[in-house]
Amino acid sequence: MALKERDEFSGQLTTGHEWNGIKELNTPVPKLLWAFLITMALFGLVWTVLMPSWPGINGYFRGLLGADQHQAVQQTLAEANAERAVWADRLATEDFAALQADEAIMNVVRSAGPALFVDNCAACHGPSATGNVGYPNIAEAPMMWGSDPDTVAETIRVGINANHPETRFAQMLAFGKDQMLAGEEISQLADYLVSISAGPALPEDQRLAANDLFLNNCAGCHGEDAAGMVESGAPNLTDAFWTYAGDRSTIRQSIYNGRQGTMPAWEGRLSTAQIRMLALYVLDLRTATP
Ligand code: HEC
Ligand code: HEC
Repeated sequence: MALKERDEFSGQLTTGHEWNGIKELNTPVPKLLWAFLITMALFGLVWTVLMPSWPGINGYFRGLLGADQHQAVQQTLAEANAERAVWADRLATEDFAALQADEAIMNVVRSAGPALFVDNCAACHGPSATGNVGYPNIAEAPMMWGSDPDTVAETIRVGINANHPETRFAQMLAFGKDQMLAGEEISQLADYLVSISAGPALPEDQRLAANDLFLNNCAGCHGEDAAGMVESGAPNLTDAFWTYAGDRSTIRQSIYNGRQGTMPAWEGRLSTAQIRMLALYVLDLRTATP
């Protein structure tokens, strides 16, 4: 194969290789290399003139277009800060009804709320606010202290049984330990609460006796119908939501030993805007939950 072979139809040289009778023409790459190099050089030259490029002793050549990413970033940051200041100001001062009706504000709440909640609240209430044993479900359960936005923001601000001069007090008395009720009566009440929250119904005489005990000892805080009272922060005892648990033995412990859950006060740790944003965020979760 030392001799160069020419294809008889096209007149081109072949590569000399043959695959089952088929030979390949030796067609060289078009000679565009120079055009390619010149284009690159020209583009490079124009680019270094227009854009920040050559280093100097006291800085660098800034380019005819004056493009500056530092400045661009600073400007975007300044704009974002100004925008945030406006949101923060509105969140801190405007009526909740107006804020809730404003889609732009609610979008800020929905985008910034989750991180604020996870950082400060999720350790106790869980990442989706549905609670843990000892920490109420604030995404779904009826609010013990009330669920209008001003009330929720106030609960977050002053806390519950917290170290704040205006804190809310939630005092479930220790009816057994402090000997206000006999063990037998506490058992009757525990059976009663299991029955009114999860069923089945108690025999009528047992229900009436327990209802009497309830009206005399519990209704002042939990309400005659046991549906809770926001004035005392006493929860609804007729539904499926329990801060501690709804089985007979846990209910018995709640009545025997009492409960004084502690919710920290957030004033001083979070800004007014953040506290009010969290109130909006939690209430928004509640409307989103079917
Ligand atoms: C250290 C645990 C803890 C942290 C952190 C915490 N909470 Fe609470 N929170 C509680 C407890 C406990 C209660 C219920 C207190 C009680 O038993 O009355 C509660 C109650 C509440 C209530 C009232 C619920 C109702 O039924 O009225 C709201 C609202 C609330 N928390 C929001 C928040 C928000 C928002 C944050 C974050 C800024 C937060 N909590 C952080 C423990 C916590
Ligand atoms: C002085 C007001 C007060 C009285 C009286 C009272 N409670 Fe409570 N109760 C509360 C408060 C406030 C809580 C919430 C405590 C907490 O979570 O820290 C509570 C919580 C409970 C719980 C726990 C609920 C849960 O979600 O796990 C049970 C059960 C309960 N009460 C039953 C009773 C019964 C039965 C009586 C009557 C014998 C009674 N309570 C009397 C205020 C009261």
